[in-house]
Parts: sequence; C-alpha cells; structure tokens
Amino acid sequence: MPTLTELARAQTDLSDEDVAWLHLLLADWQIIADLSFADLVLWLPDRDGTGFWAGAQMRPTTGPTSYVDDLVGTFLPHGRRPLLDAALTQRRVVREGDPEWRDSVPVRVEAIPVRRGDAVLGIIARNTNLLGVRTPSRLELAYLQTATDLTQMISRGQFPYAGQRSDHTDSPRVGDGFVRIDAAGTVTYASPNALSVYRRLGLATDLAGLDLAATTRSLVPSSRREDEETLSAVLGGQVPRDTELGNGETVVIARSVPLRDGDELTGALVLLRDVTDLRNRDRELVTKDATIREIHHRVKNNLQTVAALLRLQARRMTVPEARSALEEAVRRVGSIALVHETLSQSIDESVDFDEIADRLRLVVVDMASGETHVTSSRTGTFGTLSGEVATPLAMVLTELVQNATEHAFRGRPGHLEVCVERPRGQLRVRVRDDGRGLPAGFDAGASPSLGLSIVRTLVESELGGSLSLGPASGGGTEAEVVIPLYDADSGAIGPA
Ligand SMILES: Nc1ncnc2c1ncn2[C@@H]1O[C@H](COP(=O)(O)OP(=O)(O)OP(=O)(O)O)[C@@H](O)[C@H]1O
Ligand SMILES: [Mg+2]
Repeated sequence: MPTLTELARAQTDLSDEDVAWLHLLLADWQIIADLSFADLVLWLPDRDGTGFWAGAQMRPTTGPTSYVDDLVGTFLPHGRRPLLDAALTQRRVVREGDPEWRDSVPVRVEAIPVRRGDAVLGIIARNTNLLGVRTPSRLELAYLQTATDLTQMISRGQFPYAGQRSDHTDSPRVGDGFVRIDAAGTVTYASPNALSVYRRLGLATDLAGLDLAATTRSLVPSSRREDEETLSAVLGGQVPRDTELGNGETVVIARSVPLRDGDELTGALVLLRDVTDLRNRDRELVTKDATIREIHHRVKNNLQTVAALLRLQARRMTVPEARSALEEAVRRVGSIALVHETLSQSIDESVDFDEIADRLRLVVVDMASGETHVTSSRTGTFGTLSGEVATPLAMVLTELVQNATEHAFRGRPGHLEVCVERPRGQLRVRVRDDGRGLPAGFDAGASPSLGLSIVRTLVESELGGSLSLGPASGGGTEAEVVIPLYDADSGAIGPA
C-alpha cells in the first residue's frame, strides 16, 4: 500500500506544504470518524483531472465500519461518485438525501472538501453505516453535532490547527471522555466516561451547566496542573492544546479543540483521558531501572572491596605461590567488577561488550608483560550483550588472555589477538597468540589447573557453549569459545 506522501508525489500536484497539512489532518481524523460513527476516506484529485486517488482511510472505533476492504491506492474516475465531484467544484460540504445501499447495508454519504487557504487539497468521503445509528441518544446527537462543526471547519480551511500534532499514543480519544462546551466555557454536554473522569477528580454533581475551567480549578490543586492562564485557555476552549492535570490519585490528560464558525468562536470539544495507570507504570519502570543500576553499582563497590582485601592479604604473604594465587584472585574479581560497573552505567540490562573486552585485555596484558614487549589487538565486534552473558564471558576472556601472556611468550615479545565473530544466533571468540604453543602432549580436558577449569565451567554450564584449545595456524596457540545467543539483538543466552 502506498503512503500518502508517495501517492501525492506520484499522482497529484500537491505541494510538500499541502501534504504536511493533510498529515496534520490525518493525525486527528480519528476524532471525526468516532464522532460521526463513520468511515472516512480521503480522496485526492489526480494531476490530469480525470478522477481521485484514495490517499488514506479511517474506521470508527465507536461504530461498525461500512468498508471491509482497504481502499488506499485505488483510483476513482470522475462521474462514478458525483458527490465527490460536486464537493470539488462547489467547494462546500455536499450531502446526499437518501442513503446509498451497499451489500444491503444503508450508508449515508457526505463529501467534505479539505481546504488549505484557497485551494481544495482533497475530498473526505464520510460514510455512515446507518445500521449502527439507532434512534440517536443525547450522546449521539452531541457527537454528530460536533462532527458537523469540525467538518465545516475542514471545508473552510480552519481545521486542522497548524502546529498542533496530537499523534502521541496517550492522546485522548472520543470514547475516553467527551465534553462539549459553549463559547463562554460552560459545559453543554459531558459523556458518561467524561463524567466518570471528573468523579475520580472529586466532582459530586453533574458536569453539565458548570464552567469547565473553574470547576477543574476547584478540584485540582495548583501544584498538579499548569498555571491559571493555561488552564483557563485550554479548558475554556480558547486554544487548541492538551494539558495534564490531576489530584493525588488521578492523572488526566485534557485536550481541547476550539470550534469556530468563521471568525467566531462557538465553543470547544474537550477530550479527557484518565492516564493514572499509564503514569504509574511509567513511574514504576523508571524506578525499576534506577534500582537495577544502583544494585550493579553496589555489587561493583563490594567486589572492589573484596579485591582490596585480597590484595592486602597478598602483600602479607611470604610464600611466592600463595602471593601470586591471591593476586590472581584479585584480577578475577576485578574483571567481574568491570562488568557490573558497565551495567551500572547503561540504561538497559545489556552492555557494549567491546569496551569491556578491550579494557580487560589491556589491563591483563599490561600487568603480565612488565618487561617483555607483548602487543595485543581485537578484530571484529562483540556488539551488545546481556548482563547474564557479559559477566561470565568477561571472566573467560580474562583467563584466556592471561594464559597467553603468561605461558606463550615467556619473556619474548609477541602478539595476542582477540577475534570476534557474531554469525546469526552465535558468538565466536578466539584468543590467539604467536608464542611457543601448548606443551607437548597437553590435554586440556585433563589439566588439573584452575584457570582452564574456570573457563570450561563458565563456557559449558553458564553459557551453554563449547571450548576448544589447540595450535594456531601460524604457530602459537588458539583458544576458541562458541556460545549460542538466543536473540542476536539482545544477546540473551539461548535455550540449552
Ligand atoms: N596460550 C598458551 N600458550 C601456551 N600454553 C598454554 C596456553 N594456555 C594454556 N597453556 C597451558 O595450559 C596450562 C593450563 O592452563 P590454566 O589456565 O588452566 O592454568 P595456569 O595458567 O597454569 O594456572 P592458573 O590457574 O593460574 O590459570 C598452562 O599451565 C599452560 O601450560
Ligand atoms: Mg591460567
């Protein structure tokens, strides 16, 4: 299906400003569809003057649709629907006397020219499925009257209001709460849902007959709403805008659409929506994120304390092996702390692992190769990984890099490379050195030492992956870790 912009470019003479106007209209025409219980189709006159293209379509959420099919992108030659042609030439709303029968459903059709300045940009066909409209109730009459006011404004180029975009998701809809006020700001009709919203704000009486701005001011503490002028202007129907207000328990968005007849302000339509649940959820999410970050921050601090204690003890050791064992523990704890530090700074539960991997590599290589000249590099990118993958992986990487610096070079210069690939659903990391290679007859599985046991345990049990260790192609050693990633984007661990 083509977009409105594509269609306008390809088939019509509409300018970019015209199309922007139509987009502004479309942002709000759900209101008109709902108020009139009708399907709306926007027809755009083609460049050659032979007919109309359907540029957009909207169904009502308040009643049954009269179009099952999508019309957008279809062409309608002149003469097929005389009503549309009449609205285009007469530049006014044209109504049909008798309903049209379509598939044994009576449909009332109306054609509304969309004016911008002097130009008619298109025609809105409003099709009301009459099966849905019973004997009109007060609510339906108030809706229909307001819909008529709005369509007249469209045909005069007074609606949409320039610069007023309302396509954000929490914008109130007609069904959320509808209030009609007159030019003095007095409520002439409030829908049952609108009344419920005001009940929740603390109103005990009916809303009809009251001054909407004054009533709201008396119910809502000044700290929970905008300043006096804004409140009066919005709820008095003077300016097209929304505003958020509430008391301790209830939060409401009110949106006002002033209604005009020529230069005269005749009243306004005010839509209300209780967004208490929405706001509570927002708040919960914010605090949950903040809490998780704070926890990571504290875990990092605690790990650093543990590392400091171990370092202190290492210094007191007289036996060299004991001292180096403790120093290794310091390093291992440090690499976990680094992950938590990164997680405490990120907004979600995943981290950019390249940064972690590079910091770990540089620290370890630096520490281990004091006098020898060992260089290191990374090829490929880890991308983002979830916290549950990042923590064990950081440990694994530390051990493998440590092994290369410790065993491969033995005082000789050399190079160490971390190669990363992320084919679909997997993460493949190779730590490769150009050193002396593994000892003859080395069996990684049988090695009783701690480093590789940690690596194997983490890779196989925590990450559900595999580890292999062998000679590198150009001499030296290569350790390869392959882990499944459940979702290539989030970097979560795959199903075991
Ligand atoms: N890149 C490498 N080059 C040469 N030999 C290696 C390499 N990686 C591991 N090895 C050999 O594998 C052995 C086992 O490694 P492992 O990490 O399990 O223990 P470690 O490094 O000796 O002690 P630690 O528990 O402190 O890590 C090493 O002692 C070493 O002989
Ligand atoms: Mg080791």
